[in-house]
Amino acid sequence: MKVISTIADLRAALKDERRKGRTIGLVPTMGYLHIGHMTLVRQSRKTCDVTVTSIFVNPTQFGPNEDLATYPRDLDRDLKLLEAEGVDYVFTPTAAEIYRPGAETIVETTLLSRILIGRIRPGHFRGVTTVVTKLFNIVQPDRAFFGEKDYQQLAIIRRMVADLDIPVEIVGVPTVREEDGLACSSRNALLRPEDRKAAPVLSRALDKAEALAVQGERSASALRKAILKVLESEPRGLVEAVDIRDAADLAKITGKFQNPVVVLLTVRFGKVRLIDQRVIGW
Ligand code: PAJ
Repeated sequence: MKVISTIADLRAALKDERRKGRTIGLVPTMGYLHIGHMTLVRQSRKTCDVTVTSIFVNPTQFGPNEDLATYPRDLDRDLKLLEAEGVDYVFTPTAAEIYRPGAETIVETTLLSRILIGRIRPGHFRGVTTVVTKLFNIVQPDRAFFGEKDYQQLAIIRRMVADLDIPVEIVGVPTVREEDGLACSSRNALLRPEDRKAAPVLSRALDKAEALAVQGERSASALRKAILKVLESEPRGLVEAVDIRDAADLAKITGKFQNPVVVLLTVRFGKVRLIDQRVIGW
């Protein structure tokens, strides 16, 4: 496994791989890796000849009052985990390597980035789409792997790739969970022990919504009410958003839904914001 921190060195190494006819898979991450990230890496290893994982805590996707400074980091541990998975290249640029003086170009989906999490975190998705475009241009992967846990992020990246004709196949990977149902996340490590115990309430609320839909409930407002009841049974969590949207394009639902929907939850425990999602289709 090669650990590379400059764009020029990574480009040179990958040019060589491409010349040998090898396909390249990219798994973008912000590090502090867990089994969710590893599942993306395994998918890439299975379907591409060469796997590149990037570890970059991207400053432009954090707001001024968000957790950039406290975002968990452990590069040594991350590198050991990636080595054990058989990753070929790890890209570990500095912020100065990615954002050079005078840079002023941004990439943004103008509608999808402003709804849902984009309302709670203005500018967040603009940071994501800008850095992901740069990673696509640096690595030029055949396939790139993203988790369904970050459902809106995945939808935005698919939109951007289609709109800008970026020649990469986007692969979405189902959410990987802890035994008690909590979606794996680097931020789980920041939860206080009592909050960690309470946090599986998100997946219980999604279970409830799914069970009701299976029984035939098609009213978004009825599902929302039932979800809120489960979430509010856990007073440690501050519910920031419960949204039920069209699973294909995140459009608002009015009245009863006919097509698959996605339930999107954002709940804060102390300073830690947790998100979870479930697609309810049939
Ligand atoms: P990060 O939060 O490190 O996540 C990296 C990738 O792992 C994302 O595609 C995310 O959806 C996926 N992932 C996280 N938890 C998961 C889980 N429990 N199951 C399955 N996949 C999971 O998302 C980012 O970083 C950044 O925004 C990034 C795309 C790297 C751009 O900076």
